[in-house]
Amino acid sequence: MYKLLDGKECASKIKNAIKNDISKLAKDEMPILGILQIGNLDESNIYVNSKIKVAKELGISSKLIKLEENCSEAKVIEAIEKLSNETTGFIIQLPMQTKKIKNVQKILNLIPSTKDIDGLSEFHLNSNYFKNESFLPATALGIVIMLKQNNIAITNKKIAVIGQSKIVGYPLANYFEQLNNKVARYTIDTPKATIIENDIVIVATGARNCVTSDMIKNDAIIIDVGIHRINGKIYGDVDFDSCKDKVSYITPVPGGVGPMTIISLILNLLKSMTFQEKKYKQIFKNLIKIW
Ligand code: GUN
Repeated sequence: MYKLLDGKECASKIKNAIKNDISKLAKDEMPILGILQIGNLDESNIYVNSKIKVAKELGISSKLIKLEENCSEAKVIEAIEKLSNETTGFIIQLPMQTKKIKNVQKILNLIPSTKDIDGLSEFHLNSNYFKNESFLPATALGIVIMLKQNNIAITNKKIAVIGQSKIVGYPLANYFEQLNNKVARYTIDTPKATIIENDIVIVATGARNCVTSDMIKNDAIIIDVGIHRINGKIYGDVDFDSCKDKVSYITPVPGGVGPMTIISLILNLLKSMTFQEKKYKQIFKNLIKIW
């Protein structure tokens, strides 16, 4: 019988742990979450509002800079400087909806490394997460935390990461490799037959039903990062119904990886405080065990 990896329950537990640790902060020590949004995409508005809402529930204030669609690169750089000065840590919501920016990575690299809480600058993306003061992007961190909180071993395993985006697949594959796993970096075009060797399969392709039961081994652990809205219902990248009776653990969609993402961003915000001032390592000693 398979077990569901319940992201809602896991996120709620972590939220309580965060409440507990930040209750030790003086009012003027409370972090400020920064967000830069360029344009007005519905999808981005939903994500940004959810991030601000979760922060608020924890008593954390946010500073949102919203620039108009197709604004100049100079305006974006100015906003990054402002958020660098006025927030504890910040993210640039992607996609940046402006044709004036030709090199997105160059812009992400302008975020100061101790404040880059989405971990999307090259400094973090190519970091050794265990040797350096690094951030794993929030979605990737959420997956790691959910596995650890469910006492699932994440060393010396065969792990397939399908999809190589910078917000999930690429950094997660690096992280697992650094933890001494045999990691297969796959894309949507990987031959089906090779996925079956893996103990843990992370699916972040954005392609519906790209993993079916014939592609996975018995008792595999399946993490589904996909979100597809079809006729008012939400589905993942994995063919859940065909896979569920073969696996040991699987994330539901919705209610799996999704709820872990924002809480992991908040964890990265608190982590950024420990990078900026060592005293927070003591204050957040319970949270450090989680991240
Ligand atoms: N857009 C969709 N997901 C994400 C994310 O995790 N981080 C950022 N910055 N933008 C996104």
